[in-house]
Amino acid sequence: MSDVKPKFGLNPIEDVFEPPAPLLAGAHVSGLSSYQDMYRDSLANSETFWKRIAADLYFENASDRGLEWNFDVRKGDIFIRFMQGARTNVAYNCLERNIARGLGSKIAFFWEGNELGDERKITYQELLDQVTTLSAVLRAKGVKKGDRVAIYLPMIIELPVAMLACARIGAVHSVVFAGFSSESLASRIIDGKARVLITADGFCRGPKVFKLKQLADDAIKLCREQNEPVETCIVVKHLERVRIPSGADRPQVNYDDAVDVDYTEEMSRFAGAKSPVEWMDAEDYLFMLYTSGSTGKPKGVVHTQAGYMTYSYATAKFTFDLQDDDVYWCTADCGWITGHTYIVYGPLMNATTGIIFEGIPTHPDPGRCWNLVEKYKVTKMYTAPTLIRSLMAFKEEFVTKYDRSSLKILGSVGEPINPAAWLWYYKVVGESRCAIVDTYWQTETGGHIITPMPAATPTKPGSATLPFFGVEPVIVDAQGQEIEGPGEGNLCIKRPWPGIMRTVYGDADRFAKTYFASFPGYYFTGDGARRDEDGYLWVTGRVDDLMNVSGHLLSTAEIESALVAHHSVAEAAVVAAPHDIKGSTPYAFVSLKVGAKLTPALIDELKLMVRTKIGAIAVPDAIQYSPGLPKTRSGKITRRILRKIAEGDRKADLGDTTTLADESVIAQLWEGRNGGC
Ligand code: WTA
Repeated sequence: MSDVKPKFGLNPIEDVFEPPAPLLAGAHVSGLSSYQDMYRDSLANSETFWKRIAADLYFENASDRGLEWNFDVRKGDIFIRFMQGARTNVAYNCLERNIARGLGSKIAFFWEGNELGDERKITYQELLDQVTTLSAVLRAKGVKKGDRVAIYLPMIIELPVAMLACARIGAVHSVVFAGFSSESLASRIIDGKARVLITADGFCRGPKVFKLKQLADDAIKLCREQNEPVETCIVVKHLERVRIPSGADRPQVNYDDAVDVDYTEEMSRFAGAKSPVEWMDAEDYLFMLYTSGSTGKPKGVVHTQAGYMTYSYATAKFTFDLQDDDVYWCTADCGWITGHTYIVYGPLMNATTGIIFEGIPTHPDPGRCWNLVEKYKVTKMYTAPTLIRSLMAFKEEFVTKYDRSSLKILGSVGEPINPAAWLWYYKVVGESRCAIVDTYWQTETGGHIITPMPAATPTKPGSATLPFFGVEPVIVDAQGQEIEGPGEGNLCIKRPWPGIMRTVYGDADRFAKTYFASFPGYYFTGDGARRDEDGYLWVTGRVDDLMNVSGHLLSTAEIESALVAHHSVAEAAVVAAPHDIKGSTPYAFVSLKVGAKLTPALIDELKLMVRTKIGAIAVPDAIQYSPGLPKTRSGKITRRILRKIAEGDRKADLGDTTTLADESVIAQLWEGRNGGC
C-alpha cells in the first residue's frame, strides 16, 4: 500500500473524478504525487512527520517520543502511547491558542435553531469566556481532574461549551446522544461513575418537542437505585428561549432542588471567575464515548490527550483542506464521534467557523439544508449517505432554488456511500464542481483513516480511496494472512496512528479481545474491504454482529436482549434488512412463550421496549413471529438464513442447511414472512 500507482485506464473514465482544478492552488495537499510523498514519509519517518504536525499546536512540556505500541496479544498487554512525557491541554489549543493569534473576534459557531429565525452566534473569545466560567462551575461542584462528567444535551452551543469546560479542567467527558433512552443514559453514567450530569429541559426537532429533562430524571432515578447517585444535574433551560414548532406545546418541566441547578444562574454566579487550565499528560484521558459492542453491552471507547488532539487537528485540516475563510458545516450530532472530532475538536483547533444545527433536514421543508448553505455561505459540508438518500427522494428544485456556489468540498461519513447517492451529491448539490470526500473511520479510530484528499486524490463513487497519513491498512484473509494486491477480506491496520483509542473504559481485556485477538498483530476494524487494481479501498460493511442503521452502529445482541426482556418473548434474533434510506434496518424474529400471540398490540409493546431500553434509532422496522429459530445442532442461530428471509430474497442460496437441527423451520419462516408482521 505504501506505493500506490493508480492506473485509471482500467476503469471506465466516467467512474473517476479528478480533483476540481480550482482547489489545487493553495491547498494543503495539492496533487496526487504530493499526497504520495507525504504518505510515504508518514510511514518511513513517523516520528518526525507527527512532530512537524504537532508543532502547530501548543505543548506546555515537549516530548521527544513518537508512537510506541504493542499490537500483538501474544507478546503481552496491548498499549499505544504518543508523545509520552508531553503535557498539553486540548481546550487551550482550541481557544487560547487561536485567540493569541488574533482570532478572538472570529465566529467559532453559528447556531441555527429548529424554527426559522432562531439563531445565535459565538466568537472564539466568547466561547473561551463561557468555557472558563462553566469550568469554574464544575470545579465548584467538586469536579476534579480525572473525574467523569456525563453530558446529555441537544445540538446547542452549550454542548461544545460543556465538552470544552471538561477538557479545560481535565475532567473526562462522556457525551450521550440526546436520542438515547433514559436506560441507555443511566447505564453509561453508571459505567463511568459520573457524579455530574449536564442536560437541558428539552429540544425541538421538526414538528416535535422532546422532553429531555424527563428522561434525565428517569436516568437519575435508575442510577440512585444502583447506588451510583448523580449528585448534581446542571440544566440548560433551552426551551424557554426558543420558538416552539406550531401545534406543539411548551412542556411543563419538573425540578428537584436536591440535584438540579440552573445552568444560566450558575453561569452568572461564576461569571469572570478565574479557572486555570489543567496541564494534562499526553496519555491522560480526554473523553470516553460509548459505541455498540457485539456482545450487546456498549463499550466506553477512551481517547487521550496528545494523540487525539494531533490527529483530529491533522485530519480536519487535510481532509477538508481547511482555510481561514471557510464556513464549515458538519450535520452530525455531537453525541457521536463525528461531532466530537469534526464539529468540536478538529475544526476549533483549525480556528474554523462552524455551524451547529438543532433541527432536521426536512423542516420546515426538504430545502432546509440548502437554505442553510446559502444563508451562511457554507464552503465545506460534511454529512451522511442516509441524509443524502432521504433528500434525493424530493424534487431537485428544493436544492436548486438555493445558491450553492460557495460550496467547495462535500464530505460523507457513516457507511459505504452507494454510487447513486454519491453522484447526486456530486452533480445536484455540488454542481459537478466540488470534491467529494468519502471518509472511512470509526469511533475507535478517533479520526479519518481512509479518505481522499480533496485537491489530490482522484475519486471513484463508493470508494473511500486511500489511507490517511500514518495509517497502514491491510486486507487479511480468514487465516490472518495479508492479501497483497487486488482482493477482498478483513480490514485491519498494521500499526497505530496518534488518534487510535487507548482502551475500553474499565475493561482492558475487552479492548484486547475485541480489536486485537482475531488477527494477532493487527488492529481489526470489524469491517470487510476490497482493494482494486489501483490500490483503492472499498469498505464493504461490517463482518461482525453489528449493523449500520442511518450511519449509526447498533448491536443485534443489544436489540435482542431488549426484546426478550418482554414477558411474552421466549427468544429473539435480529438481523439487518436492506433499507432504501437508512441503508439497513433491524428486522426481528421472535418466538413467543406458550399462550402468547403476536398481535399488533404486542408488536407495539415490543417496539416500545426497544425504544425505552436503547432509543428510537434501534426500533425494528419489522417484527416477525417465528415458531422456532433456525439453529445448528449445537444450538447456534444461523443468522445468514434469517438475513436472506429478512431480505425477502426467495431465490437466494441459503447455503448448507443440512446442519440445522430442524430444517422445516425455514418453510415456516417464509410462510410467516408472507403473512407480514
Ligand atoms: C461504517 C462513524 C464505509 C463502518 C465515524 C465503520 C463506513 C462504522 C464509513 C463506524 C465510510 C463509517 N464507508 N463504511 N465512509 N464511515 N463506516 O463508530 O462500518 O459510529 O466500522 O463511527 O461505520 O461507525 P462509528
